[in-house]
Formats: sequence, C-alpha cells, structure tokens
Amino acid sequence: MENKPENSAVGGGRVFSGVQPTGNLHLGNYLGAIRNFVTLQEHYACLYCVVDLHAITVWQEPSVLARHTREVTAAFIACGIDPKNQIIFNQSAVSAHAELAWIFNCVARMGWLGRMTQFKDKAGKHQQNASVGLFAYPNLMAADILAYKSTHVPVGEDQKQHLELSRDIAQKFNKDFDVPDFFPLPEPLIQGPATRVMSLRDGTAKMSKSDKSDNSRINLTDDADLIVKKIRKAKTDPHPLPTNEEQAKDRPEADNLIGIFAALSNETRGQVITRFAGTSFADFKKELSDLAVSVLAPIGEEIARLMAAPDHVDEVLRAGAARADAIATPIMDDVKRIVGFIR
Ligand code: TYM
Repeated sequence: MENKPENSAVGGGRVFSGVQPTGNLHLGNYLGAIRNFVTLQEHYACLYCVVDLHAITVWQEPSVLARHTREVTAAFIACGIDPKNQIIFNQSAVSAHAELAWIFNCVARMGWLGRMTQFKDKAGKHQQNASVGLFAYPNLMAADILAYKSTHVPVGEDQKQHLELSRDIAQKFNKDFDVPDFFPLPEPLIQGPATRVMSLRDGTAKMSKSDKSDNSRINLTDDADLIVKKIRKAKTDPHPLPTNEEQAKDRPEADNLIGIFAALSNETRGQVITRFAGTSFADFKKELSDLAVSVLAPIGEEIARLMAAPDHVDEVLRAGAARADAIATPIMDDVKRIVGFIR
C-alpha cells in the first residue's frame, strides 16, 4: 500500500465514518458499513471513529460505555481495518467534534432537524422527554465528517437522510460566511447487496442493536453455535425460495436472507436467486449457516482476543486520536477565523 501523507487527503478524497458504542454490534453494521470500511482503506486515507458523544444522546451506563467503546474498536481491527495505516479513535478524545458541532447548531435550522426520521423513531411519543443531544445528533455527525473536510462517507441506508443534512450544513456554512468550497459536500457511499439488513424475526423491521430479541440479530460476538441457531430460527414463509428478483420483492424474509447470503458470498442477489431457485428454506439455511460461520466466527474470536488485551486497544485509540487531532486542528483554526473568533 502506498504511503499516504497524513495531513492531506489523497486518492481524490478522505473517508470518514462512525459507529456508536451502544453494544450488540451486529451483522447489519458489518455488511452495511464496517466491511466497506475495510475495502476503502486500499484507496483512501480513512478515519474510523467510535462515536461515544453520539452514544450518550440516550442514557449509557459509564462503565458499560467504556467496554462498548473498546468492543467497537476491537471489531474494527478484527474485521480488517489496519490501525497503523488508518486512523481509529474515539470521538470524545478530539475536541474538534464538539466545537464544530456547536457552530453547526447555529448554522442548521430547527425545521431541518425536525424532519429527521431517526429522531422521530427514537424519541417516539416522548419527544418532550428526549435529550437535546438526540435532537441535535445530525449536527454532530456533520461536524464529525467536516472537521476533517472528509469527502466520502460509507454508511448503511438508514444514515442517508443524515448525510443529506450534512451536505446542507456544509453548503449553508460556505454561503453564510462567503467561503465557497471551504467545506466539501460529502458523498454518501451506500454499497453492496445488504445496505439495509432486516431483523431475522421480522423482515419488515431493520436489524437493530436495540431490538429486545437477541434472536433478531446476529451479533459480531456470537459464536458458531449461536449463529447456526439464530439462522435456523429465522422467520421464513412457507414457500420454496423465489425463482426471480420480482418474486423476492414481495417476500421480505426471503429477500433479507438472500441479501445476507449475497453480501457474505460476494455475489449479487441475482446470482444467489439463480443458484437457490426453488430450494427449500431448510436447505438454504444450512448453506447460509455454513457461510455465515466461516465469515463471522473468526471475527468474533478475534474480538474476544483483543478484548482480553484492553491496553492494546486503548493504545490504538490514543494514537488514533492524536493523528486525528493533527488533521482537525488547522481546519478548526480556519473555521474559527472565518466565524470571527479571536485566536
Ligand atoms: P450506528 O452505530 O447505528 O451504525 C453503524 C453503521 O451501521 C449501519 N447499519 C446498518 N446497515 C445495514 N443494515 C442495518 N440493519 C444497519 N444498522 C446499522 C449504519 O448505517 C452505520 O453506517 N449515526 C451513525 C454513526 C455516526 C456516523 C458519523 C456515521 C456518527 N457520526 C459520521 C457516518 C459519519 C450511527 O448511528 O451508526
């Protein structure tokens, strides 16, 4: 791999993405996001952030938050991100995130945030009782990305609306302060056949860290037996596998398992449908279990190994934060000058 200069984006851009340390890291996080982080590191300078400031927008037990932060870091490394070449760090360790988020709180409009579907979903009927942080969450995301003038952001489909808001914030800042092109307009990278992995218990609900049923998701820390059990129990319909993509669309559970298979085997949905057309779910699930275990069990084992050596994980975070800070500081100096703060 070429040696990339740390302080300038190379290869046509800089990649940033984040994962919340809220526990239960799952197959959706892996297929929708982390797996793509790994491929992008071949072509871009990348920053991968454990977003602990975002996590506390809903209550986190402090000792558990620290463990979950280490677990996401371990998962990044176990999935194949190289902490020597790429920057892995936790958000709260670099002050630029909170500082720029405040400035963006003053750029973004209430109406923009009020339209965010994730806020409506998470706050539900209790909006008055939600934290202010949960409402302002997307502004902090924009700050994460733009504090490094990042140009590409690999995410699952559920983050698309937040990324559109990041672009709106970048554009409004550039316009309000008359600094055209100061912030780039970051591009979402939503890639692969599993950008929205659904629950194993309900093909119409997203696979999620917070689902009460552990059988709804495959956690990256599940061992081989548990992975097999969860796939065996996964909800299906009474018919054999569909014979074409059109048929799959009306069968959410089948469609979901086909997408998972395709992503894990690096095939297209179409190829998987052709291979298993008319097969029984029992046979298909057996093949899917073997495949899932072959990809995920080694990741789980490596996470466990890394979690047993937390000093190493903490050192990765500390070194990453220092490198991230060195990129963000000159950008923040410019931002503060542009806004009119005395330096
Ligand atoms: P988080 O922690 O909820 O999820 C991490 C990544 O996993 C993706 N994802 C999924 N992809 C496919 N199917 C699913 N069921 C699924 N569930 C989650 C998410 O899209 C995400 O890419 N707000 C972000 C974290 C964040 C961030 C950022 C991302 C903070 N700052 C800046 C990009 C850039 C979040 O809550 O991700």
